Amino acid sequence: MTLTPIITEFWDDPTLYTLDGYRAHGGYRALASALKQDPDAIISTIKDSGLRGRGGAGFPTGMKWSFVPQNDGKPHYLVVNADESEPGACKDIPMMIANPHALVEGVIISAFAIRANHAFIYIRGEVPEAIRRVANAIEQARAAGLIGTNILGSGFDLDVVAHSGAGAYICGEETALLDSLEGYRGQPRLKPPFPAVAGLYASPTVINNVETITNIPYIIDRGVDWFRQFGTEKSPGFKVFAVSGHVNRPGIYEAPLGITMRELLDYAGGMRDGRPVKFWLPGGSSVPMLTADHLDIPMTYEDMAAAGTMLGTGTPMLFDDTVSVVKAVTRWLEFYKHESCGKCTPCREGTYWITGVLEKFEHGHGSEAEVDTLVNLCGQIAGRSFCALGDAAATPYPAALKYFRDEFIAATTTSADEQFDPVASYVFAGAVAR
Ligand SMILES: Cc1cc2nc3c(=O)[nH]c(=O)nc-3n(C[C@H](O)[C@H](O)[C@H](O)COP(=O)(O)O)c2cc1C
Ligand code: SF4
Repeated sequence: MTLTPIITEFWDDPTLYTLDGYRAHGGYRALASALKQDPDAIISTIKDSGLRGRGGAGFPTGMKWSFVPQNDGKPHYLVVNADESEPGACKDIPMMIANPHALVEGVIISAFAIRANHAFIYIRGEVPEAIRRVANAIEQARAAGLIGTNILGSGFDLDVVAHSGAGAYICGEETALLDSLEGYRGQPRLKPPFPAVAGLYASPTVINNVETITNIPYIIDRGVDWFRQFGTEKSPGFKVFAVSGHVNRPGIYEAPLGITMRELLDYAGGMRDGRPVKFWLPGGSSVPMLTADHLDIPMTYEDMAAAGTMLGTGTPMLFDDTVSVVKAVTRWLEFYKHESCGKCTPCREGTYWITGVLEKFEHGHGSEAEVDTLVNLCGQIAGRSFCALGDAAATPYPAALKYFRDEFIAATTTSADEQFDPVASYVFAGAVAR
């Protein structure tokens, strides 16, 4: 399958981040046509396109928008989730740095569709370059009359704010993000009510990922049939895949959904030193790992689910045979333990316990009984936690045990660094511990 640069098509133009640079490639053409349409027609177009949210769960975007009650007399809000903090995920940040106006154009069209007069872009605080680029794009758009009152003479008013987060992974969870945006400590809210009904300031709110919103101008400009020529019936469109780990050319590869990991790996120059793939994760540390046996499965929401994992953020991480799976899983659990917000007991206490046992394994201690106790412990967290961070924390160990049980047994007597060269596998730590 060939690559299809669409969102990334003009990333080699050094002026793309400016209003003039973006306009030179057709930027804001979709906005002009959208503002002449009925907002409901835009929602229908996005529904018909079959676009699924690119933030991890793959929820149909048009359907989410249609949940917003209309003519309810309340203000509506659009919130873009640009908190990208998942280990391995690195697609939204390059998108905001390379082409911030595509996101801003998507925000204006999406806000118009859901009848929101205020939009917020909540950006991961550790990436000042992304915040500067997006804030600058908003100001340029405002100066050009694309944000503000009576946009392009349509009668539509919109204000857009770029808001910097403060570096908490949990603030990527949509309701914790809303609390953070309102000035509270970022902790998840009970659902229902869902944000589409009671979100920011208890008003109807749509929360979408950066890549999801960046797709909108392209769909409006080129149409549903054009969009659906890519991908599959259940996973239409294209995807910005961010490939990382032990590959020769880590980076962004934009391709139709349905491309295989083997094809993406070829584009990424293969594994370093020609070593074999030991394990890989299709979309961030929260999705179950796969092995070299799964390289030919199409990267779609449905095929990844059938293989027992998830497409997630579509940011595959690949690891070669120098890496200790015990060590990898331990690093991820240390991350989840650190990022657990502490609101509910299974996640707050469970991440602490799993990490403790894994750290024993990593250093060659522990017992065979604990290899199975840990599965039980993960089972006490998955599905019993307040939000999906708990489920994510309970995922890596059982998935790894399924394929690498022998390695966990060996780790009860021999440390990971004795079994695997700590220097050779160093890139792993760099790739994951961001
Ligand atoms: C702990 C946690 C962190 C998350 N981080 C992000 C994130 O950084 N960006 C994102 O778009 N979604 C993130 N999500 C998913 C959001 O809750 C939400 O599903 C998503 O923003 C919806 O957008 P979409 O429909 O466009 O995919 C996270 C979820 C959890 C549980
Ligand atoms: S699952 Fe973890 S992150 Fe989510 S609310 Fe509970 S303690 Fe907080």
